[in-house]
Amino acid sequence: MTTRPLVEVVPAAAFGEHVAGLLADRLAARPGLVVALPTGSTPLSVYEALPGVLRRRGMDAATATVVLLDEYLGLSAGHRARCDEVLGRALLDGLEAAGLRRPPFLAFEVDEVGAEAACARMEAAIDAAGGLDLVVLGLGANGHVGMNEPGSAADARTRVVELAPSTRDAAVGYGATEPPTHGVTLGMATILAAREIWLLATGARKCAILSATLDDPLTPDVPASLLRRHPGLRVIADDAAAP
Ligand code: GLP
Repeated sequence: MTTRPLVEVVPAAAFGEHVAGLLADRLAARPGLVVALPTGSTPLSVYEALPGVLRRRGMDAATATVVLLDEYLGLSAGHRARCDEVLGRALLDGLEAAGLRRPPFLAFEVDEVGAEAACARMEAAIDAAGGLDLVVLGLGANGHVGMNEPGSAADARTRVVELAPSTRDAAVGYGATEPPTHGVTLGMATILAAREIWLLATGARKCAILSATLDDPLTPDVPASLLRRHPGLRVIADDAAAP
């Protein structure tokens, strides 16, 4: 039996500052925070706001460890649509531009060791860091989290995945010229092993899938619904996405 998680509804204009404030709270409470972060458009306002929030509180994030949630395969190192590049630009460069130190960043070492080995290394690196304290997630239009596409089971580990057509199309929107067909992602089991999970959803186009995530029976067909098994799930939506 799972209960419907509480949804924190925030006005769209305040979303980035609000979630950045919550992240700063976590960093203050646990300076060695190990936090997995997503790319996509949803968290951009959070990453934009975070340096200012940290500066105002006299903090930085240098002792935290940032873990990359997922990565495309087939895009060369340095490609602007690569998730490591996107998170680097959106968050790490922003911290540095605000005069703050960059936290250590665990990305998938797909170029160095290949995709399969990069997944094993990522799991090992997370374990070595003491496990994930927090995973922040966007919500895919088809209910995916990270690149855990529909059909991903709760026991799926970090692995190579085939991307759904809508995820390939989205990659083009993020700057990939050729849509990538595969990726690597923290698995559902890896995400569910975190101490806390925040699922973020913004905009009216997420309203229907957020409703399915929260209210339909748990199913691998909507991987985000499986997050409801986790007692530390927090759902934060703007007023357009909230069902
Ligand atoms: C992408 C990424 C996810 C992201 C999601 C939502 O395909 N793999 O990590 O959270 O889809 O993207 P957006 O925030 O742009 O809606």
